[in-house]
Amino acid sequence: MNLYETDKLLSEYLLFHYGSARDVLPHPGGPTGGLDYAIRCVTECLDAASLPERARALDLGCAVGRSAFELARTCSEVVGIDYSQRFIDAAQELQQNGATTFQRTEEGALTTATRIEVPPEIARERVRFERGDAMNLRPDLGTFDVVLMANLIDRLREPRRCVGRLPELVGPGGQLIITSPYTWLEEFTPRENWLGGFQRDGEPVSTLDGLTAELSANFDLIRTKDLPFLIREHARKFQWSVAQASIWRRHLP
Ligand SMILES: C[S@@+](CC[C@H](N)C(=O)[O-])C[C@H]1O[C@@H](n2cnc3c(N)ncnc32)[C@H](O)[C@@H]1O
Repeated sequence: MNLYETDKLLSEYLLFHYGSARDVLPHPGGPTGGLDYAIRCVTECLDAASLPERARALDLGCAVGRSAFELARTCSEVVGIDYSQRFIDAAQELQQNGATTFQRTEEGALTTATRIEVPPEIARERVRFERGDAMNLRPDLGTFDVVLMANLIDRLREPRRCVGRLPELVGPGGQLIITSPYTWLEEFTPRENWLGGFQRDGEPVSTLDGLTAELSANFDLIRTKDLPFLIREHARKFQWSVAQASIWRRHLP
């Protein structure tokens, strides 16, 4: 069973992407810096000022879509792609209706109906969602001025197949934003496919080293940034992580 097709993960990701601070973290003294991650992947990483007119953006592994909607504040066309049909269905419902209600877990089988919405000022008609496999994307996607891959690479069986397509997807001078806590797990990625998090010839290889090896022929690394994020599992259990964002610029021809 794909974890990202379950009720549990759908509910957690709707809250993670769209939940208010009060709904996600009502406890005083909690790590509020981890809120609004799907928004901050865009606002803290995108160089909006350098986008061309009528910019196109791709959110790969978009889940339930919040970053795609944030990209639509500055890009006139945004494509969100995810492998989970349930996540894409939820994203499409939000695209069409602007709001939805779901059950968030309090404890055990106790839940609370929670209403969420896409900020009304976002032009939702700029965004479209489709199901797809980041390791085997359809060939006619075209090129983009921005490609965002948030918390995706360490969930792919063969991350190099996805990373290898990026030079074709990001147009000359375009921006590539990769964020990840680099949680390599064999249940998602066989060890021989990890991009980093191991030793080679007695030397540590970080995932940023691995990404640089894969990308440097076509991209310049502009900067890195730590991005904390908080996922609420239930009223009294939270996962706090710190992703590293690496922000790249596609070489000009
Ligand atoms: C850890 S979640 C991150 C989601 C979102 N970008 C975020 O930051 O909240 C990983 C996402 O990648 C998606 N995913 C996993 N394998 C994929 C694949 N082969 N192609 C596209 N999406 C995939 C999952 O369905 C899930 O939505």
